[in-house]
Amino acid sequence: MKRIGVFTSGGDAPGMNAAVRAVVRTALYHGIEVYGIMRGYSGMIKGEIVKLDSTSVANIVQRGGTILKSARSQRFTTKEGRQEAFDQLVNHRIEGLVAIGGNGTFTGAELFEREFGIPTVGAPGTIDNDLYGTDYTIGYDTAVNTALDAIDKIRDTADSHDRAFFVEVMGRDSGYIAIPCAIGGGAEIVLVPEQVQSIDTVIETLQVARKRQKSSFLIIVAEGDEEGNATTIAAKVKEAIPEMDARVTVIGHIQRGGAPSAADRLLASQIGIAAVEGLLNGMRNVMAGIVDRKLVYTPFQECISRKKMINQGFMRMVEILSV
Ligand code: F6P
Repeated sequence: MKRIGVFTSGGDAPGMNAAVRAVVRTALYHGIEVYGIMRGYSGMIKGEIVKLDSTSVANIVQRGGTILKSARSQRFTTKEGRQEAFDQLVNHRIEGLVAIGGNGTFTGAELFEREFGIPTVGAPGTIDNDLYGTDYTIGYDTAVNTALDAIDKIRDTADSHDRAFFVEVMGRDSGYIAIPCAIGGGAEIVLVPEQVQSIDTVIETLQVARKRQKSSFLIIVAEGDEEGNATTIAAKVKEAIPEMDARVTVIGHIQRGGAPSAADRLLASQIGIAAVEGLLNGMRNVMAGIVDRKLVYTPFQECISRKKMINQGFMRMVEILSV
């Protein structure tokens, strides 16, 4: 293999730049040319492909976002779109790819390889930490710290005004961001899609806490919770406990930005190197990840289809620590 391409796709995540830097420098270290594909699959289809050298990735290890930009491409979900992308790769003589992204990115990469035979190794880049095959995804640690910083501030005002705050965090269909925010933020309740809690249970927990003279409350709601979002849940609780002064905060896209934490920079660098070396060692259709501190490569198919389980011990911790 003489030339590879690298791209970021799906929702951006802090640490993606550190991963791009590691990919580029590892390729150069091994004497391989490396091209950056802008805007994920969308730029691949349009041929937005630029040669990268060592200086192209200088001074980015600490920057949030992605210098390669990111997008979610509808066109790539069609056979014609994938054909156009393949033609562009052939024109640029790109023989292998490193895909930095999440579920959607790897679903596309897996299909693309089956149809056109372009070997791809993935690097898990998403704040959601919802990928099987790695304990942590690039961007997750930073996102949790960003959310927790906001929650600490909300707690101050909740306490001053004796209020209940329903705080919605990101995570798509997973509660991975919500759980450490609840434990680290000292929340009374955490609502996650993986373990449905009825509104009645939420109301009962809050009523018990009120009886014990608690006057301010934090309820962390993962955006994918099946009982609803923070706004609808807060409305139902308010209906049941009208004397409770409740407010809603949706932390939103702040969770996606900012300088990556030390843990994310380290993970991104490790995985970026592993992705390129995996590709050069003949791996394809796998994602590089770290499980129990060891580097592992997991087939895309498994990463996409297998559900990463929530540690039930963490849910119990929220319950115990809010007594
Ligand atoms: O996958 C990352 C993520 O931030 C999810 O947590 C969230 O559901 C989604 O992306 C938001 O996507 P968009 O930026 O397209 O609104």
